[in-house]
Amino acid sequence: MNTVEIIRKKREGDELTSEEIQFLIRGYAKGEIPDYQMSAWTMAVYFQGMTPRETADLTMEMVRSGDQVDLSPIRGVKVDKHSTGGVGDTTTLVLAPLVAAAGVPVAKLSGRGLGHTGGTIDKLESFPGFDTSLTTEAFIRQVNDLGVAVMGQTADLTPADKQLYALRDVTASVESIPLIASSIMSKKIAAGADGIVLDVKTGSGAFMKEEEQAVQLAQAMVEIGTRVGRRTMAVISDMNQPLGRAVGNALEVKEAIDTLRGQGPPDLTELCLVLGAQMVTLAGGATDEEGARELLREKMADGTALDYLRRFVEAQGGDASVLDDPGQLPAAEVKIEVTAPAAGVVDALDAEAIGLCAMQLGAGRATKDASIDHGVGIVLHKKVGDRVQQGELLAELHAADRQQAEKVEKRLLQAISLGDQPVESPPLIRALVT
Ligand code: URA
Ligand code: CA
Repeated sequence: MNTVEIIRKKREGDELTSEEIQFLIRGYAKGEIPDYQMSAWTMAVYFQGMTPRETADLTMEMVRSGDQVDLSPIRGVKVDKHSTGGVGDTTTLVLAPLVAAAGVPVAKLSGRGLGHTGGTIDKLESFPGFDTSLTTEAFIRQVNDLGVAVMGQTADLTPADKQLYALRDVTASVESIPLIASSIMSKKIAAGADGIVLDVKTGSGAFMKEEEQAVQLAQAMVEIGTRVGRRTMAVISDMNQPLGRAVGNALEVKEAIDTLRGQGPPDLTELCLVLGAQMVTLAGGATDEEGARELLREKMADGTALDYLRRFVEAQGGDASVLDDPGQLPAAEVKIEVTAPAAGVVDALDAEAIGLCAMQLGAGRATKDASIDHGVGIVLHKKVGDRVQQGELLAELHAADRQQAEKVEKRLLQAISLGDQPVESPPLIRALVT
C-alpha cells in the first residue's frame, strides 16, 4: 500500500478501505509514516469527512494500538459515563455511588484535570487518604464486592490517539467531527465498558459551543459505539454556565455529598438523574427510564446512595468521616464574598472564564505536571435568571491568600453579567441521541 495514494484518495473525497485505515494507523504508531504525511491526511479528513464505516474503523484501529481493559471478570453489564468536559461538572462523584446503589456495577477509569475543566481523580483525592492507584485485580475485586471503584489510568490506552491528537493540535485539524468522535470513543472502548452514556456539553463553556455541532458529535459517537457492539447513547446538556454551584475539588465533593442526600443544586441533581437513569436502563437494571429514575430517587431518599459513597471512599483508603463532617475536607485559608455592584438579573455566567478563575486560584492545572490545591475554588450563590439586589452575595471565593483572592475577584466579576431585563435560565437537557 502507498501512503501518498491513500492521502490523495481522501483528498478527492473517496472512501478508504478498512485495510487502508489499518495501514495508516499502524504505520503511524510504529513511526513508519512520518508526521507530515499524517498531517496531510488529517487535513484531508477535515475537509472531506469520513463515512460512519471509516470512522468506526479508525476508532478500532486506535483501540488496538494499545492495552485494552478486560472487565469481563466483573459480573453484570458494565456501563461507563463520559462527559466532553465542563466547569464544575460534579456528576461522576454523584453517579458512581448512585448508580452502584441501584445495582449496576460502576468500574470507572478517570483522569486528572487540565485547563479550565476539573478531573474526577483530583476531586476524589480531596478525601484525605483516597488512593486511585489500584491494581487491575484490586479494582475488579472491589467492583465485584462493593459495586463501585474508580481508578486513575495506568494502562497504556490508545497510544495512536495520543499521537494523532497531539499532531492535530498543532496542525489545525482538531475540529473535525469524525476525528473527535473516534478519539473520544477509542478511549472509552479501550476502557472496557459494555455500555457508554455520553454527556455532550454545549454552550460557552463547552468544547462544542453550538448545539447543532454537539448533536452531530453525539450522533457520530453513538454510531461508532453501536457499530462496534457497545450500547451507546448521548445526552446533550447545557454548559453556558457552570453546573451546580461549586467549582473546585473539595467544594465539589461537598456538593456531591449534598446531592446524594437529595439536597443538591437543582441542575446538578437533574443531570445526575437523567444520566443515571440512562446508565441503569442501558445496563438492564430497569425496564424504562421512568422506572430507573424512580429507583435512583429512592436510593437518594433512603440514604443508600450516600452509604455507597461511604463504603467506596473507605475501600479506597479515604477518610469517610468527612461525609458527616465536611468541615474536615481540605479548606482554603481565605474566603471572600463577591457582591453585586448594582441591582439586576444575572443574564450570563461565563463558564469558561469562571473555570479559569478557579484554575488561577489553584484548583486546576495550567500544565500537566502542575500541582493543585484541593481546598480552593468558587461557590456561586446566583445562577442565570436569578435576581440580585445591590450588595447581595453573588459568589464566594476560596483562596490560599488574600492578594490572590482580590486579583481573581476582578476577573470573576467580569464573568458575571448583570442585566435589567428578566431572563430565563437556559434549558439544561437539550436532546437525547440514541
Ligand atoms: N477530546 C478528545 O479526547 N479528542 C479530541 O479529538 C477532542 C477532544
Ligand atoms: Ca458543581
